[in-house]
Amino acid sequence: MKVVAVNGSAHKDGNTARLVEEMFVPLRAAGHECEQIQLATNRVEGCTACRSCYKKKDRRCHGRKDFGNGVIEALDGADAIVLASPVYFADVSAEMKAIIDRAGYVARANGNMFARKPGASIAAVRRAGAIHTLDTMNHLFLIGEMIVVGSSYWNLGLGGAAGEVENDVEGLSTMTRLGENMAWLLDRLEA
Ligand SMILES: Cc1cc2nc3c(=O)[nH]c(=O)nc-3n(C[C@H](O)[C@H](O)[C@H](O)COP(=O)(O)O)c2cc1C
Repeated sequence: MKVVAVNGSAHKDGNTARLVEEMFVPLRAAGHECEQIQLATNRVEGCTACRSCYKKKDRRCHGRKDFGNGVIEALDGADAIVLASPVYFADVSAEMKAIIDRAGYVARANGNMFARKPGASIAAVRRAGAIHTLDTMNHLFLIGEMIVVGSSYWNLGLGGAAGEVENDVEGLSTMTRLGENMAWLLDRLEA
């Protein structure tokens, strides 16, 4: 099955990306296809509140001409969705919030188009604010009838400068377990 992760970090291949890749290891080992979309190199802006998605109901966003529909299309085609963000002022990055608002509104305009897909959130954090950040991402899953996957601890990794998350052994093992739990669920959904 296909797992698509959206990474809202401003850093390409930073701590957030590293955590996502760690989660992907058991998923790939179980035969699932995994793709990470990094918003650092695929820029998106916020929802314009044009409500065209509600008028057209064509599973697309019509308010912007950026990569938003690239993300929405990838999430639509995925069997499971991962939202990953660095913690910025105790919340998600602006780019991740743009995806939550735009993909969330398009999904709601189209009969909750991600309903019953498994979803997991991941936060990269230097020190504090990760729980609120995870909550923000989980809101997209919970209002959209998705199935939220957890791990052995909160889905976070500790690190400031890019690469520092490598030193967080517990954070990385939390990602491994998250991937194992997602794989367990996907195997049962596939059966
Ligand atoms: C604008 C901004 C705000 C931040 N706010 C917080 C914060 O509230 N709490 C925290 O622990 N770290 C904060 N950080 C640090 C990042 O969450 C941390 O460095 C993270 O590992 C970055 O992940 P990345 O390498 O994927 O960009 C902030 C960083 C930036 C750039």
